Amino acid sequence: MNAMARDGLPRGTVPSAFDTEARFYDRLVGANPGYHEHLRLSARRLGLPAKAPGPRVLDVGCGTGASTAALLSVVPNARITAFDASGEMLERARSKTWPGSVEFVHTPVEELAGIHGPFDGILAAYLLRNLTEPTTQLRRLRELLRPGGRIAVHEYSVRDSRRARLVWNAVCAGVIIPLGKLTTGDATLYRHLRRSVLEFDGIAALTRRLTEAGFTDVHTATVGGWQRGIVHTVVGTAPLETP
Ligand SMILES: C[S@@+](CC[C@H](N)C(=O)[O-])C[C@H]1O[C@@H](n2cnc3c(N)ncnc32)[C@H](O)[C@@H]1O
Repeated sequence: MNAMARDGLPRGTVPSAFDTEARFYDRLVGANPGYHEHLRLSARRLGLPAKAPGPRVLDVGCGTGASTAALLSVVPNARITAFDASGEMLERARSKTWPGSVEFVHTPVEELAGIHGPFDGILAAYLLRNLTEPTTQLRRLRELLRPGGRIAVHEYSVRDSRRARLVWNAVCAGVIIPLGKLTTGDATLYRHLRRSVLEFDGIAALTRRLTEAGFTDVHTATVGGWQRGIVHTVVGTAPLETP
């Protein structure tokens, strides 16, 4: 068995792994303390205006709709387009109750089929580390924002902190991988989660990545609880003039 098969997934195959695990997703993230609260925090950090007619917001890699619900709870009058490459994850999202201002689209971020800007804000939660060309996709997302619109990248990033790596490894080995295996019968996606986080950008590199993709005023903030220093929001603004 090679290292990729043992510890993770080739990046292009991630959406099909989510297809397989979709029915367990809500139960597993529900067992993660702070998961929904942290998504709401990143949604708030977008600083979306609540006034009528409501901002247009894009939820990139919406999965079963946890990040969509976070956006809606922070800005109830938002007009949200939420998309994902996994048909099964989207099916779960669509099966929930949503106001008419929320639409779901089945497309990978590499294609953006049926996604038309301009948007006032974009939330990309737990997506970027799974992409083959994150900077290219960030650039394309920036082009979907109105000038002055913001993106919030909500992501694990542990590379710059020894403490964060130690805690992440301990929680994966002691909780996430065994619980994933117990719940779903297969640990592949949870081993991928561990490794993809360890291999992903540190927070300084992630900040540089957004700047390289043309965002200005890029700044970061972490969350509370055991994920302090592990989960971050990185916010960037689409410049008033195209770079
Ligand atoms: C960890 S889930 C996060 C879901 C949701 N944003 C949340 O916070 O609960 C990552 C999602 O990204 C989706 N995804 C992975 N690669 C993608 C791609 N290239 N284009 C669109 N979605 C993708 C997966 O199918 C999965 O639903």
